[in-house]
Amino acid sequence: MSAPRVFVARAIPARVRDLLRSACDLDVHDGPDDLPRPMLLARVAPADALISVLTTRVDPELLDAAPRLRVVANIAVGYDNIDLAAAAARGLVVTNTPDVLTESVADFTVGLIFAMTRRIAEGDRLVRAGGWRGWALDFMLGSGLRGKQLGIVGLGRIGRAVSARAGVFGLEIVFADAAVGVGETVPAGARRLSLDELFASADIVSIHVPLTDATRHLVNARRIGLMKPSAYLVNTARGPVVDEAALADALRAGRIAGAALDVYEREPVVHPGLLGLENVVLAPHLGSATTETRTAMAELAARNVLAVLRGDPPLTGVSPVPSGSRHAPGSA
Ligand code: GLV
Repeated sequence: MSAPRVFVARAIPARVRDLLRSACDLDVHDGPDDLPRPMLLARVAPADALISVLTTRVDPELLDAAPRLRVVANIAVGYDNIDLAAAAARGLVVTNTPDVLTESVADFTVGLIFAMTRRIAEGDRLVRAGGWRGWALDFMLGSGLRGKQLGIVGLGRIGRAVSARAGVFGLEIVFADAAVGVGETVPAGARRLSLDELFASADIVSIHVPLTDATRHLVNARRIGLMKPSAYLVNTARGPVVDEAALADALRAGRIAGAALDVYEREPVVHPGLLGLENVVLAPHLGSATTETRTAMAELAARNVLAVLRGDPPLTGVSPVPSGSRHAPGSA
């Protein structure tokens, strides 16, 4: 019997290739960009397993082009790029990479909070442009964190990991997440608010929900309008959770103090209204981007593929129907 075929949509570390090659016939797309769609469909056609990334649109067209597929292993914790119902209808297993990236994304979120409140990227631009005239008591003042309120939207793994770091900086935690049941453990001292209460109350609003129909544009003009003029927004979850045009308007008009984004509505395109603003930090989707974490993500995806191809349950499968309101973080 011939070895099962695995197609990998983007480059993966050598160690993970070796792991897959031990049991599979491997085809990896190593280019610097995603494959053009017709080439992707052709490459995936003979595969028994697909290792996808968050830019691989796994929809009925792709699934029909690859009739032998048994598993789609996404190298990401989010899986909004995959049509779960279409995969389930074809009997496919879908997996993601939770846990291994939680700490990296939480660290990066804290980094962005400092970058925006302490104006680190703005200061870097000023120095490089030759605009620094020297120290002054009132020069480029930012906003301190001690005694301020951090509003976590979505108290899942990453939201909790961000909360765990916040105490060190003297931040008080509030959260909105309808999926957290009464009696379920929440971070010490954290208070639950409705989404609207959180937007109106928090000094920093940090987004940690997956992208679903319920969370698309959850941060819209109305909710941004609830925020204090001194408040900040940070998004390391998924771009379409935030209405970028509404955010750009609010930042330009000074209706909120600042924002930091790692994710965008149409990556790698960034809303032009954001690009010229000093009060927004723009990162290129780096939340989980450490060598260690990205290797662990690729390895977990490979182990999921190997398990399913062996006939075992996946290590980290995702259910066809998003359950619970992790996907609907709270009512207004
Ligand atoms: C990255 O954005 C991920 O979902 O892992």
